[in-house]
Amino acid sequence: MKTTNILSLAFAAMMASAAYAQQPLSIEHLKDGHAQVRVAADQKCLLLPIEENAPECFIKVQVDNSTAYTFTARLAVDKVDFTVPFDLQPYQGKELTFEVNTPHQDRHSSREPKWTSTVQKANGFDVTNREKYRPEFHHTPAYGWMNDPNGMFYLDGTWHLYYQYNPYGSRWGNMNWAHATSTDLIHWEEQGVAIAADGIGTIFSGSCVVDHKNTAGFGKGAVIALYTSDGIAQRQCMAYSTDGGKTFTKYPGNPILSADIPDFRDPNMFWNEDINAWNLILACGQEMRIYSSPNLRDWKEESRFGLGYGSHDGVWECPDLMRLPAPVAKGEQPHDKWVLFCNINPGFPAGGSGTQYFIGDFDGHKFTCDTAPEVTKWQDYGKDHYATVSFSNAPEGRHTMIAWMSNWQYANDVPTQQYRSGNSIGREPFLYTGADGQLYLGSAPSPEYDGAGLDKTLKIKGDATITLSNEEGEEFVIRYDQKAMTLSCDRSRSGETDFSKEFAVPMTAPVHKKLTSLRIFIDRSSVEVFGNNGEVVMTNLVFPKSTYNNISITK
Ligand code: FRU
Repeated sequence: MKTTNILSLAFAAMMASAAYAQQPLSIEHLKDGHAQVRVAADQKCLLLPIEENAPECFIKVQVDNSTAYTFTARLAVDKVDFTVPFDLQPYQGKELTFEVNTPHQDRHSSREPKWTSTVQKANGFDVTNREKYRPEFHHTPAYGWMNDPNGMFYLDGTWHLYYQYNPYGSRWGNMNWAHATSTDLIHWEEQGVAIAADGIGTIFSGSCVVDHKNTAGFGKGAVIALYTSDGIAQRQCMAYSTDGGKTFTKYPGNPILSADIPDFRDPNMFWNEDINAWNLILACGQEMRIYSSPNLRDWKEESRFGLGYGSHDGVWECPDLMRLPAPVAKGEQPHDKWVLFCNINPGFPAGGSGTQYFIGDFDGHKFTCDTAPEVTKWQDYGKDHYATVSFSNAPEGRHTMIAWMSNWQYANDVPTQQYRSGNSIGREPFLYTGADGQLYLGSAPSPEYDGAGLDKTLKIKGDATITLSNEEGEEFVIRYDQKAMTLSCDRSRSGETDFSKEFAVPMTAPVHKKLTSLRIFIDRSSVEVFGNNGEVVMTNLVFPKSTYNNISITK
């Protein structure tokens, strides 16, 4: 099944909404809070009026007496916060019936919900930015909700980013994979929904690989996606693309991997030349399962990792596993180590969701962790770094990673509406040895961002307090305590914070090697701090009245 592309519609037809001819719709109220809306598909889209705090309605779209699509939307009850388009283009010339099932609590109200008088057809959807907090050199969706980055790969000069996307509101729901592309990791072009929900389930996180050797049989260079379908259970499904990731065809034998556990998701695969086969790592409750396959379809379980290791204060999600060069001590031969990434929600030291990692060895079958089970290490000690995974097939052997720049504690409530959530800048993971002789993971800003926006490097000698501030007196404070070997961030006076009591809490990172520099990227609503260019990293959202344009350093 080829999937439709809602955003292409949005971008193709950016016009002032007043210019659209409006056609009346036939709305019939049925008993018990149900309604049905008949829509002749003679215009490009149906604009659905959304109220963020209204309860979710369940909507079934019937075409030719069968269900073409189901989704949820917070249809406006009292006021319209914004509209979202439902794409009518695939149904031109037909009549659609939208069956709207409003939640029980509203059914006996005699009041007409606002959406019934404001829903309308249109020939375009305006995606001009309306958000003062929208960043400039970070990826954000044009409109709608985004969480985890998915299926990222690089091919022929283009970075492909897919992401967990809800096109029908700016809160989590209706998960699809939307697609964006970039040639520089800074400017992104939205390509619309690439993998849409189907009868098996909504589309949760997963990964893509470029099948250079045609191991799966869909052609040399086909892009293969593996994702979790969230339906009666969480099961892994496959889709393939023969046009470089633009459109995907779902594999008819889906699902390809099932298990009898509730949390079974986020497949991450990579080619492992040591075993001349594919490996797959999958989050399964409190551990990671590792598989191998010759063809990306038939997966053999090899081993499990994680019980008793690191933090288990939440569900293990979004894994990644990669080989990185180890720092070489005097007299030592160059060698590699493997890093297993485990996103966990909740369980992060400063609350909510975060990314822990384990360093060890991997032989294509089993991951052996170097550190004792009780050791917990985090990739980023800011509060807005989650679901971090790497691009596949990146140039020059790179393992460029991107994080979803939010936290499940408040992601649905941050003060934006047209879109919710952006992604971090790209990072290049590396290993270094701390002052204690232990190995740690660092994340350096990808070279593409050199000089992007506000990229400032400050040299520091011993204790330092760095204050980023604006004319309104709002400030974001970074403190380096050399004796305590900590770096901390305080965003309690950074701007809007009152949308969640979890937002303004202080954050502290352990520093494993004396800091001599701090590199800071500021972009409207985020501050990313890289100590020693990535040995310690803190990624945080901020919502100041105006950009911080002043930096001061004191002891
Ligand atoms: C992580 C996560 C994933 C899941 C996706 C659903 O943020 O919970 O485990 O696949 O989000 O949107």
